Amino acid sequence: MARMGHAVASGCWWAFALSLATLFLPGLQAQVVQVNDTVSGFIGTDVVLHCSFSNPLPMVRITQMTWQKATNGSKQNVAIYNPNMGVSVLAPYRERVTFLRPSFTDGTIRLSHLELEDEGVYICEFATFPTGNRESQLNLTVLAKPTNWMEVTKKILTAKTGQTEKVLVATCISANGKPPSTVSWDTRLKGEAEFQEIRHPNGTVTVISRYRLVPSREAHKQPLACVVNYQLDRFSDSITLNVQYEPEVTIEGFDGNWYLKRMDVKLTCQCDANPPVTHYQWKMLNGTLPSSMDTQNKTLFFKGPVTYSLSGTYICEATNPIGTRSGMVEVNITDKPLGGPGGLAVILGSLVSLAAAVALFMFYRQQQKNNPEMDSDQSDLSTSHKASPVEDRRHEMNHVTSDVQVVDLDNIGLDESEMEQKLPLQTPYYDLAGHDTLTFSQDLFSGLEETDLHYAELDTTTLESSPRTKTTPAPGELVEYAIIQSHSG
Ligand SMILES: *[C@@H]1O[C@H](CO)[C@@H](O)[C@H](O)[C@H]1NC(C)=O
Ligand SMILES: *[C@@H]1O[C@H](CO)[C@@H](O)[C@H](O)[C@H]1NC(C)=O
Ligand SMILES: *[C@@H]1O[C@H](CO)[C@@H](O)[C@H](O)[C@H]1NC(C)=O
Ligand SMILES: *[C@@H]1O[C@H](CO)[C@@H](O)[C@H](O)[C@H]1NC(C)=O
Ligand SMILES: *[C@@H]1O[C@H](CO)[C@@H](O)[C@H](O)[C@H]1NC(C)=O
Ligand SMILES: *[C@@H]1O[C@H](CO)[C@@H](O)[C@H](O)[C@H]1NC(C)=O
Ligand SMILES: *[C@@H]1O[C@H](CO)[C@@H](O)[C@H](O)[C@H]1NC(C)=O
Repeated sequence: MARMGHAVASGCWWAFALSLATLFLPGLQAQVVQVNDTVSGFIGTDVVLHCSFSNPLPMVRITQMTWQKATNGSKQNVAIYNPNMGVSVLAPYRERVTFLRPSFTDGTIRLSHLELEDEGVYICEFATFPTGNRESQLNLTVLAKPTNWMEVTKKILTAKTGQTEKVLVATCISANGKPPSTVSWDTRLKGEAEFQEIRHPNGTVTVISRYRLVPSREAHKQPLACVVNYQLDRFSDSITLNVQYEPEVTIEGFDGNWYLKRMDVKLTCQCDANPPVTHYQWKMLNGTLPSSMDTQNKTLFFKGPVTYSLSGTYICEATNPIGTRSGMVEVNITDKPLGGPGGLAVILGSLVSLAAAVALFMFYRQQQKNNPEMDSDQSDLSTSHKASPVEDRRHEMNHVTSDVQVVDLDNIGLDESEMEQKLPLQTPYYDLAGHDTLTFSQDLFSGLEETDLHYAELDTTTLESSPRTKTTPAPGELVEYAIIQSHSG
């Protein structure tokens, strides 16, 4: 067949004349075979190889159209169209090549079910008479989509202290791609990736990347994604690492405020471990635990109130299949609560003491003033307190503007100078909810079985407006006054 093409070119004198004419006539320059320079397709798909011949010279005859493949420098015929004889497709291509619209100007073929071996240079040749052969060539590239996957190491990742050797975590593979894929890793892990390319004889490339890492607690549960980019495709697969590590121990429960007699204190051994902790062991730095302690799993319960004997360094040893680690806490016991509600109570107690002193003083003055004039006043006051008739007191309130006063007897025994030192005389009245009644101790008021001290109501407006009488106690003078009622009465 190729021989035929050459035979056409040889010969006649006027063919030579026409050849000469092409050199000088611009119109003949347009006698061109048009192809696509590059054509590509994936394995298994069909490609169309365009080829058209523009022939502006009506006197030139197309004798044959031939597709050839250039292999190793030699040409191999693929398909032939002869206007007189018809179409011929040669051996390996017989089932796969068809002319789409064979004619004097169109030699376009379709190549079906692309194979890797189809890649190469294809020549579209028009044999004419008398001007000879005209040809153009195109490059056919066969693409192969890679197969991508990720392999996760079967070995269990274990973090060991002091380990610096990286271990294989995962392998990302993009096999038999053409052109080769780009493989990368998407992760926040601080590992190391190694890349390898294997070029196969059929032109495909397998890209392998291995990800190595020093197993650590921080790496546990971290995602690791393998990303393969091939042409416009993107493949991604990810795993979440499972790293086993020894328990990381912290002890919770000591708030720095373990004061004497505090109840229900406990220490808890908080562990971060993979796999979980299987055994907890509590001990003290200098030996075993006192018997007053009860361990339940990770918690160390202290039975009974806090005592000084609890102070010391407590150690929790936690064990999981990987190893044993311990944490410790130094417990020291204070005699008084720090800050907290306990501290507040002390301050309140002082204020109450101040209030008591002032109330007694004021009351004394009022009695001194009122006694000669209104004898009923005192009894009125006491009865109203005893029954606590809120309704009754309301009308009394018309001239009673002060708050309800409560006297705290805890500090009644303080001597005057101490009280003055502790309590600078400021606001004289305090409202202390929840302290309606206070009980005297017997030794303070011997003779009475059990007595209650009730609040006193003071008319400060009258105090304010009334001129001071000579009965007003001098500063520093001891004031003894309280409403004392028998509890039984
Ligand atoms: C290939 O060439 C034909 C005509 O020669 C044109 O219609 C087609 O668009 C071209 N294809 C490409 C991918 O260039
Ligand atoms: C191309 O030439 C090489 C040696 O140069 C040979 O091994 C190979 O088979 C040839 N390919 C074809 C398609 O003939
Ligand atoms: C076609 O392929 C050949 C060899 O493989 C190369 O030299 C040439 O530049 C390619 N042409 C185009 C247009 O890609
Ligand atoms: C190319 O060669 C590789 C290695 O021999 C093989 O695994 C692969 O299947 C081949 N690809 C095709 C499309 O034949
Ligand atoms: C210890 O923990 C296990 C599992 O969490 C639980 O089943 C068991 O009841 C616990 N034992 C005690 C004494 O709390
Ligand atoms: C350990 O120390 C605690 C307090 O520091 C003490 O009460 C206890 O006796 C000590 N135990 C031993 C075995 O030394
Ligand atoms: C108690 O221990 C804490 C630390 O554990 C320390 O800061 C503090 O000073 C200690 N207090 C006493 C009274 O030893």
